[in-house]
Amino acid sequence: MGRKLLLDKAHIEGIRYYDTYRANGGYAAAEKALKSMGPDAVVEEVKKSGLRGRGGAGFPTGLKWSFIAKPEGVPRYLVCNADESEPGTFKDRYLMEFIPHLLVEGLLISSFALGANRAYIYIRGEYAWIPDILEQAIAEAKNKGWLGKNILGTGYDLEIFVQRGAGAYICGEETALLESLEGKRGNPRIKPPFPAVKGLWGCPTVVNNVETIAAVVPIVNIGGDEYIKFGIGKSTGTKLISACGNINKPGVYEIEMNISVEEFIYSDEYCGGIKGGKRLKACIPGGSSVPVLPANLLLKTAKGETRMMTYESLNDGGFATGSMLGSGGFIVMDEDQCIVRNTLTFARFYHHESCGQCSPCREGTGWMKKVLHNIEYGKGKMSDIDLLWDIQRKIEGNTICPLGDAAAWPVAAAIRHFRDEFEWHVTHPDEALTRNFGLAHY
Ligand code: NAI
Ligand code: SF4
Repeated sequence: MGRKLLLDKAHIEGIRYYDTYRANGGYAAAEKALKSMGPDAVVEEVKKSGLRGRGGAGFPTGLKWSFIAKPEGVPRYLVCNADESEPGTFKDRYLMEFIPHLLVEGLLISSFALGANRAYIYIRGEYAWIPDILEQAIAEAKNKGWLGKNILGTGYDLEIFVQRGAGAYICGEETALLESLEGKRGNPRIKPPFPAVKGLWGCPTVVNNVETIAAVVPIVNIGGDEYIKFGIGKSTGTKLISACGNINKPGVYEIEMNISVEEFIYSDEYCGGIKGGKRLKACIPGGSSVPVLPANLLLKTAKGETRMMTYESLNDGGFATGSMLGSGGFIVMDEDQCIVRNTLTFARFYHHESCGQCSPCREGTGWMKKVLHNIEYGKGKMSDIDLLWDIQRKIEGNTICPLGDAAAWPVAAAIRHFRDEFEWHVTHPDEALTRNFGLAHY
């Protein structure tokens, strides 16, 4: 059985509430951080742990924290990105719903380390029932002296606020989130300046994902050196994976980042294999924004090495033969799934969610959607496949925020690995909507 650091207590009845959380070791890390470590030691421990941002980018958390500007008399903020909107990703929801105090404790330690006296949880509007759970945990923590003024007699003050989003995917992009938090339309800002220098209301701000902030608790508890042992290389610690698609056991799993993709898909501890005993066709390992991998490149890298559930291994070979761990939204497709239809579904999503600020994204996502629609519905031409390739190339790297790349990469990967499936749609227009999708036509 894999060891757990975040969900190890998730099964305990009542863990959502303060008394049970505290009785099971909760807030011990906060006590340690505030009373015996101090801010700089916490930052050092997080650096030592090698923790990387769990929202998707995998940026080193300790490094991000050390970038925060500290001009005299200017407030600093910690913003928790709980706008978990990446299709296939639902691990932060699980954490907030079942162990909200882990997030509150993580926010306390992280804010203390950063010298922030206000922290915000920006949560996606569709998670309508979770703000109440968070508000309750915050109220309980405040009631017990873990929030408010002079916490534990240390002279440190902290308030945590919950802000609901209104259902826009783009507000998960950190600068759009900050705009939205300031009460404006959620349009991404150009970076640099990064939020660590100029963030919320122009002040230094760290934006971290829910899981990242929660992971600070076990790091303080066990120490950075121990945390590293839960992974391989630069993929340290444990990672929450939300697994969905054609598998026997969809759900949220905490893995040590030292298991193989094959073990994750086929072992009973995790996904339990492909539903109905069907063949594995493809997988999107890190949420819809990352490239799809065909089965032959999913279990082994192009070099023939075992593909591991790590940042490095999943990206081995770059996007030509690899993908990304991303947000840990693990979408498994069996032999009956249609890659063209799947790609169209995502293209529709990105077109709908584009904020429209930059032309390549605003126009390109719509164009890709139209061309994919034609191919999927039997009205495509062979030249449309090259056209699609051309459009995605013109979006990638030419936009203000990563939504453009996120829209382009899935299309590129689908054509790269499943071009014959696109061609089949063009040459079999009458069967386009009635076929048995998948491997059968090869
Ligand atoms: P990014 O690589 O631009 O930045 C990562 C983080 O590091 C940011 O907080 C940024 O401010 C910080 N950073 C980078 N360089 C810095 C520097 N020189 N100084 C100070 N700070 C610096 O990536 P981004 O836009 O934050 O995230 C993109 C990823 O988000 C995608 O790869 C995707 O996997 C993921 N994503 C996740 C979603 C979810 O629901 N969890 C939704 C959509 C995308
Ligand atoms: Fe908006 Fe798309 Fe440009 Fe991002 S890439 S700023 S979502 S138009």
